[in-house]
Amino acid sequence: MVSMIYTQNYLSLTREALLKELRQVLSSNRYEHVLRVEAKALELAQSYGVDEEKASIAALLHDYAKELELGKMFIYAQKYWPEERLESAGEAIWHGPAAAYLTREKFGCKDPEILQAIACHTTGWFHMTPLVQVIYVADYVEDGRSFPGVDKARKLAFEDLTLAVRFKMIESLRHVISRGVYVYPLSLEIYNNWVTRHSTRSVAKK
Ligand SMILES: [Fe+2]
Ligand SMILES: [Fe+2]
Repeated sequence: MVSMIYTQNYLSLTREALLKELRQVLSSNRYEHVLRVEAKALELAQSYGVDEEKASIAALLHDYAKELELGKMFIYAQKYWPEERLESAGEAIWHGPAAAYLTREKFGCKDPEILQAIACHTTGWFHMTPLVQVIYVADYVEDGRSFPGVDKARKLAFEDLTLAVRFKMIESLRHVISRGVYVYPLSLEIYNNWVTRHSTRSVAKK
């Protein structure tokens, strides 16, 4: 059980008040999920020297908008990312920027890194700070997850955070494509950018 007292004023709430709010807004399964993401994010934050208070806040709030009515979710997401054409993105993507919007507007968070970690926890982003990477990966490998490859992802998370991000990006895209559904172009752009910059392939032999 995580116990932590927020001291940096990133939020207008104490951690205890935040947990109370989450219990009211989220289903119990999702509440348990965000607690597990927080626990994993803190382990990763310790291991990579990332600010633990920021990791706790971003982890606890990353899915805050996931159970909103879709119309509201879309409006909040679009307010947070006005430059993106989000109509076609769908709730799997909307709930990230929508949660960042609420974290900023409702809980007074002005920290751009926390907000970014929340906003892009499903898409990833072109450049991701270690905190943003920690949240992206913690959501993927929290202890309740079970999918083919989760053990590899968990191991990678503590060996090389950037490779773990890359792994999630590849596997998530593979999963979407295997279902034969629309790929949101921004996700594809981020994927292309990421795998180009973080190639594990040695220089091709002639
Ligand atoms: Fe999410
Ligand atoms: Fe999540």
